[in-house]
Amino acid sequence: MNKVNYLSEKGIFIEKNVNLSAGTLAWGSKARQRAKEVKGFIDATIGSAKNDEGKLFAFKTFEEELKGLSADKIFGYANVRGQKRFTRAWMEDTLETFPSEHREKSRLLSTEPITTCGGITGGLTIAGQLFFDKTDNLLVPNSRWSNVDNCFFKNQQITELNYNLIDKEGNLSFDDLIEKIKILEKENKKIGIYFNFPNNPSGISPTLSQIKAIQETLKEVKVPTVIILDDAYEGYVHSDEVLDHSIYPYLIGLNENVLTIKVDGMSKRYSAYGVRLGTIMLGFGKEVDEEEKEDYRELIAKGARTLTSSSPRGPQEAFANISEDKKKKKQLKKEKEELKNLLKERYLEIKRLIKDRENKTIHPVDFNSGFFGYWIIKNNLLSFDLGEKLLEKSLGTVPFYNKTSGLNGIRLAFCSIKRDDLEKAIDILYSV
Ligand SMILES: Cc1ncc(COP(=O)(O)O)c(C=O)c1O
Repeated sequence: MNKVNYLSEKGIFIEKNVNLSAGTLAWGSKARQRAKEVKGFIDATIGSAKNDEGKLFAFKTFEEELKGLSADKIFGYANVRGQKRFTRAWMEDTLETFPSEHREKSRLLSTEPITTCGGITGGLTIAGQLFFDKTDNLLVPNSRWSNVDNCFFKNQQITELNYNLIDKEGNLSFDDLIEKIKILEKENKKIGIYFNFPNNPSGISPTLSQIKAIQETLKEVKVPTVIILDDAYEGYVHSDEVLDHSIYPYLIGLNENVLTIKVDGMSKRYSAYGVRLGTIMLGFGKEVDEEEKEDYRELIAKGARTLTSSSPRGPQEAFANISEDKKKKKQLKKEKEELKNLLKERYLEIKRLIKDRENKTIHPVDFNSGFFGYWIIKNNLLSFDLGEKLLEKSLGTVPFYNKTSGLNGIRLAFCSIKRDDLEKAIDILYSV
C-alpha cells in the first residue's frame, strides 16, 4: 500500500486481518473461472438456491410485483425504521412460521422489526455495535460462516469465545456452550451468544429437547445476556426430528436478564439475495410496556441511521402489496413450498448417496437442514488443500478452516446443484 498512512488503526487492522480471498465469495469466483474452462464442472460454492436448470430460484410473485411498482415506490426514500406496511407484514410473516401456541406470546414480548440495509449482515453489524463493547465476550459456535468473524471480531473487535457446537462425530451438542455460560456467569460477566440455525456451514439444526437444555440454563442466568440470532435460513428444514422454525420463541420470556435479537431478511427467506434487505426484531425476557418497546425500536433505528441509513424501498413496497392481497400471498407461500421441496429432495438424494459410503479423509456431520451439507476432515489435510483438489476434479466447494475453533471441513452447497448432477458431485467428493 501507499507509503503515506491514510488509515485509521481499525483500517490497518481490517487491511491485515480480513481475508476476502479465503471466504465463500473467493471460492465462488475460483469455481466460476474453472467452470468456464472445464465442461461439466459442478459449482457447489454459493449459498443461493438454484432451480434444476441451474438458474437462480426466483419467486415469480415477488418478481412481478417489483416490476409493477411506480417510480416513487422504487426511487423514493424509505422510512429509516422501515415502511410501516412492510414491517407489520414482515412481523406477521415471521410469527406465522412459529407453532400456533407460541405466536401470541411472541407478539407480546417482541418489538415490531426495524429494517436493516445491507441484508442480514447489516443487521448483525448493528446488533454487535449497539450491544457489545470490545471487552464483552461473544460466544460463537465452532461451525460458523466466516463473516461472523469479519463483522464481530475483526471489524468490531468484540472478544471472541468459541463453543463446540459440533462434536468430532459430527453431532450437535450444547454441552460446551452451557458450561461456558456458567463460567462467564460465575465471573459476573455479561454474556453474548451467537446462534445460527440452520447452521452455515454445517447444515445442522437442533431438536426441541436440545433447545430445552438451553432454555433451562437461560432461565437461571443472573447476568445480562444478549443473544444474537442469525435466522438467515429459518424454515428450510429437511428432517422431522429437528425444529422447522426459528428457536426465537424458546428464548424469549424466560428471564428478564435475557434479550434476544432476531436478525433475518429477504436474502434466503424469499430468495432475494441482491435486494439487501434485513430486519431486526427484539424479544424480551419478560413483558415490557409499549413505551419501552418503542424506545428499544428507536434505538435500533438510530443504529441503522448512523451506520447505513434506510433500506431499499422497492422490495418493502412489493412485499407489503403481496401480503395485503390474499391471492398473491397464497401464491408466494406456494412458491416457497416449491423451493423447500426442491431442497428437501436434493437433501434426501444426497443422504441416500452417502448412506453406505466410508471415506478415509472425510466424514459427514449430521446435517438435516438449510442449504448445505458439510464434511469434517478426519486427517491432517487442510480444508483449503482439499478444496483445491476438488476444484481440479471439477467440483467447486467451500473449505472452512478456523485455527482457534479447530474447524476444518468442506461445504457442499446442494442448493445450487442440479438434481441430475448430485451423484457426480458426491462421487467426486468421495474420490479424495
Ligand atoms: C448464516 C448467514 N447469515 C447471514 C448471511 C448473509 O445474509 P445477507 O446476504 O442478507 O447479508 C449468510 C449468507 O451466506 C449466512 O450464511
